[in-house]
Amino acid sequence: MNLEPVILAIESSCDETSAAVLIGRKVLSNIIAGQTVHEKYGGVVPELASRAHQSNIVPVVHQALTEANLKLPDIDAIAYTRGPGLLGSLMVGSSFAKSLSMTLGTPIIGVNHMQAHILAHFIEGQKHGKTPSFPLLCLTVSGGHTQIVLVRSPSDMKIVGETIDDAAGEAFDKAAKVLGLPYPGGPLVDRHSKDGDSMKYKFTTPRLEGLDYSFSGLKTSLLYFLRDNSKDETFVQQELANICASYQRTLVDYLLLQLEKAAKQQGIAELCIAGGVSANSELRSKFLKMCDNNGWKGYIPDFTYCTDNAGMIGIAAYFKYLNQDFSELSDSPMARIDWGRL
Ligand code: KG4
Ligand code: ZN
Repeated sequence: MNLEPVILAIESSCDETSAAVLIGRKVLSNIIAGQTVHEKYGGVVPELASRAHQSNIVPVVHQALTEANLKLPDIDAIAYTRGPGLLGSLMVGSSFAKSLSMTLGTPIIGVNHMQAHILAHFIEGQKHGKTPSFPLLCLTVSGGHTQIVLVRSPSDMKIVGETIDDAAGEAFDKAAKVLGLPYPGGPLVDRHSKDGDSMKYKFTTPRLEGLDYSFSGLKTSLLYFLRDNSKDETFVQQELANICASYQRTLVDYLLLQLEKAAKQQGIAELCIAGGVSANSELRSKFLKMCDNNGWKGYIPDFTYCTDNAGMIGIAAYFKYLNQDFSELSDSPMARIDWGRL
């Protein structure tokens, strides 16, 4: 078996069209085309996302191959995101991958997007130069998901805790929206927080039994806070940094509280964070501090591999390739995937 396969990976689960070429665990190219069309709507419009994927996919794949200095016949397998995600968006990437696989006669590998976020840690050549070992615990925080996952191997993952309502990314984006910031607001809340006093305002998070999360109360507490202070029209403008910093501190501390509890319960000392929200500067620094304080090893992927990208789809497919775990052309994309709780 080829232990260093060349994999062309395609990601199209939400509003990023991405293609990457990997050889083994090394990423040769990772092209990401964002979609600015959603900005004015304050969130992703599924129909517009599918259309944008449709026009981006050919140039993005072409550029990925060009940058990798490879041609289609060099590819050993084609990987694509099977789900979870927006169905219309997933269909563009999966149909493209299947057509290419039929034309070239190469195997095809469907990948779980959330598991790929976790496996991004195993891409070679990242700045920190460290690769976690199994078993590990990963906090996966994105626009659609918030999960604590126990990972025993690339093919053995179980959810030990997850949100019962909004995702952490949604909690960032919705807060940004009511503060008048454009979509996606997470990175902007992060930026404004740097100039604010994080202890100035108090927002609330529920203390759930076990390892689950709930973010709807936090969002509501921000809404009530803004309503109570709405008499002064300039309040949000003047206090934006302090509100962002206080809100972000509450959210980040809550994420880490449950993660710390999970690590102690499971007796795991290898900890990771993944997904778009793991790009958050406060989460990154507090996560590493928490690991240090407990004598655990903490891992964070490079920024490029935190938010949606095809490099992570490629690495997840690489592990499946080693197990000869290929997909069928008849497999259909899945908006939701239930992959098991511990
Ligand atoms: O993983 P991702 O790129 O896409 C999904 O699979 O959902 O995550 C996107 C989410 C968005 O909610 C975005 O606001 C959030 O990640 N995000 C951040 C930061 N960068 C991206 N949230 C907080 N701070 C950031 N720096
Ligand atoms: Zn994602």
